[in-house]
Amino acid sequence: MTVYRATPLTFQRKRPEVRGSLSRNFKRPMTDHRLYAPATSRNRDPILKVLRTVLPAKGAVLEVASGSGDHIVHFARHLPHLTFQPTDRSSEALASISAWVEAACVDNVRPPLFLDASASLWPIPVADAIICINMVHISPWRATIGLISRAAAILPPGAPLYLYGPFKVKGVHTARSNQEFDRGLHDSDPAWGVRDVAAVAALARSAGFSEPIITDMPANNLSVVFRRIQPDSGASS
Ligand SMILES: C[S@@+](CC[C@H](N)C(=O)[O-])C[C@H]1O[C@@H](n2cnc3c(N)ncnc32)[C@H](O)[C@@H]1O
Repeated sequence: MTVYRATPLTFQRKRPEVRGSLSRNFKRPMTDHRLYAPATSRNRDPILKVLRTVLPAKGAVLEVASGSGDHIVHFARHLPHLTFQPTDRSSEALASISAWVEAACVDNVRPPLFLDASASLWPIPVADAIICINMVHISPWRATIGLISRAAAILPPGAPLYLYGPFKVKGVHTARSNQEFDRGLHDSDPAWGVRDVAAVAALARSAGFSEPIITDMPANNLSVVFRRIQPDSGASS
């Protein structure tokens, strides 16, 4: 039986690889910018399984808060009919994403872009789907506000906004481990915290998204999928 544990997503640096030699007696370790999070390796296949049912048959998928880049190269490898645009607001993450893409030799991932979810302007004018994994609880609430309002501006009607992470349901943590995790998040930054899925859904509703389709995921996480509703054309006057 596979045992999943809810653990904070901590990144480790990939062990530098020794590639080639400058002389017979000297091996030069190449710098490897890839970051690595054990949780990402564990959750990428369960997430991919849901994404297969959510993402469109073709088009561009924008990932907000790509982190290491491990996820996006995995999804790109398994969903070759889609093009992926990784983003993050951390320069270390952007370097790691480039390194993961280079190491994976995938040709359907665009170069990573700086994107702060809470900013009013995003560098991407349009996308066919948006995914955002493990950011909502590890960022101030204004990042979720920005994510949902910009997603509403960018996505066409029917397009999905996919969120993944731990959420409270009806104000209650879904597991004791999530409660402990939430306490740890608050200790790291009082603006962080496990959000109530109803609060995120209310924000999404007011921005023009459907009610969410929610899927239970390993380690007491949820997949939460909103779809853009056709904006009201309004009565002609
Ligand atoms: C826990 S990591 C998750 C990374 C990746 N999605 C994963 O699941 O492995 C959180 C990520 O959110 C990014 N982040 C935090 N606040 C952000 C914001 N306002 N806009 C964009 N990215 C943000 C961080 O830089 C970090 O890469």
